[in-house]
Amino acid sequence: MMRTVVPVVERVLETPSTVTLRFPFAPAARPGQFVMLWVPGDDEIPMSLSYVEGSKGVTVKVMGSTSRTVQSIAVGDRIGIRGPYGNAFDLSPGRILLVGGGSGSAVLAPAAEAAARRGARLTVALGATTASELLFAERFRRMGARVEIATDDGTAGRRGYVTRVSDALLASERFDALWTCGPEVMMGKVLASAEAAHVPAIGSVERVMKCALGMCDACSLGPYHVCTDGPVFSGEALRGLPEFGHLKRESSGRLVPA
Ligand SMILES: Cc1cc2nc3c(=O)[nH]c(=O)nc-3n(C[C@H](O)[C@H](O)[C@H](O)COP(=O)(O)OP(=O)(O)OC[C@H]3O[C@@H](n4cnc5c(N)ncnc54)[C@H](O)[C@@H]3O)c2cc1C
Ligand code: FES
Repeated sequence: MMRTVVPVVERVLETPSTVTLRFPFAPAARPGQFVMLWVPGDDEIPMSLSYVEGSKGVTVKVMGSTSRTVQSIAVGDRIGIRGPYGNAFDLSPGRILLVGGGSGSAVLAPAAEAAARRGARLTVALGATTASELLFAERFRRMGARVEIATDDGTAGRRGYVTRVSDALLASERFDALWTCGPEVMMGKVLASAEAAHVPAIGSVERVMKCALGMCDACSLGPYHVCTDGPVFSGEALRGLPEFGHLKRESSGRLVPA
């Protein structure tokens, strides 16, 4: 698929480490899908679409060199986009528990918006290291979601990992579905708790990607290519994979702790 070079038309600093870039990009996209974002002079990295309607958007947290370069992109600068790729969230309405950590809200927010429009009742367990790093708390509230917060340092909501909040919600309320995105170790725990509570779960998985076309194997996870079979997988599919939550592949192909 061809890369399209587009101007950045809006830049929002969401947290001290996370920026949203909006850009005109015509191809239709569904919540859960991702694009390959090319940063001129740097590299190309996969990014979930955090906005799928109107001008599209990506929301990028600093992790390494390319995501750091993204933070300095300004309105009017040009970026390259190819995609959208991958599958999407099943937006059947009902009572949905969303569990997001780190940059995970970037993909959960547009899916939640679409589900809310179809009548879903949303509860969000939102986690971050500290209060200023909570991503899209207001955006979730604006779509009518109840937002329960956890921060590692206790500066907002409950102190500790977001799994404490999601476990408490699963123990006290009934949900028809659970969606999660965040660090794999967190997602592994969330999916195990959902299984114990008999709540069907899905998770959006992040792996190193190169082609995004199912051809290079960079994103292999057990029998799957995350780029074409995912990035959204059922909890059942993920739980059977020994690598999930434990090991991930670096761009060299080497397996390292997740
Ligand atoms: C389908 C998909 C959707 C994604 N959506 C988003 C998104 O919406 N927002 C966003 O900020 N990022 C997202 N990512 C992650 C993103 O593609 C990059 O991996 C990330 O920005 C780091 O790239 P880098 O080149 O800056 O860091 P690198 O130089 O590749 O890595 C620097 C360090 O960070 C670690 N690292 C890299 N990626 C991750 C990760 N995902 N989780 C934990 N540690 C990591 C590396 O192991 C290394 O130690 C997504 C990934 C995939 C596959
Ligand atoms: S990124 Fe090449 S197969 Fe998935």
